[in-house]
Amino acid sequence: MNIVLIGFMGCGKSSVAKALNQLLGFRVVEMDDLICRKTKTQNMQELFAKKGELRLRIEEIALAKKYASKQNLIISTGGGVVLNKIVLDYFKQAGAKVIFLHASFEQIVSRLKADDSRPLFKDQRVAKELYAFRLPLYLHYADEIIDVNRESIDLIALQIKKKYGL
Ligand code: S3P
Repeated sequence: MNIVLIGFMGCGKSSVAKALNQLLGFRVVEMDDLICRKTKTQNMQELFAKKGELRLRIEEIALAKKYASKQNLIISTGGGVVLNKIVLDYFKQAGAKVIFLHASFEQIVSRLKADDSRPLFKDQRVAKELYAFRLPLYLHYADEIIDVNRESIDLIALQIKKKYGL
């Protein structure tokens, strides 16, 4: 069974993925990293600047198609995977469980304030609108919602392990 971690930028998907890797031994698929490698870009800033956001969205769909049928993976997604329904459809139809890591906007801001690596988190007002727009999408796709404001990374990983008997 695959575990797909979704949530807004800065909610802790990569950290929870690493903790789950330690706990379960499942391989981590970092979608952003694989997409940068495939597009020969150093990071998301360069990808957005040279190829555009659409290229990211196209590659997210391609990766979901490729990895959905594999087994025992932890898929750490980019915050925008919920924009194209087909991405989550590929994973869910293959039996993956989708975990929404829910952080408040305030917590996201405090986590990302010293981090300028995200092209879609440059202006806090715009980011807040994006958060409000996406929240119902994360909730819609989630099989499980975890409030990351309250729990440590290790406890979140443990909770996922127990929930699915992994
Ligand atoms: C994005 C989130 C980023 C990355 C890209 C776009 C988004 O991933 O895919 O900058 O649309 O929310 P993280 O959620 O890992 O920051």
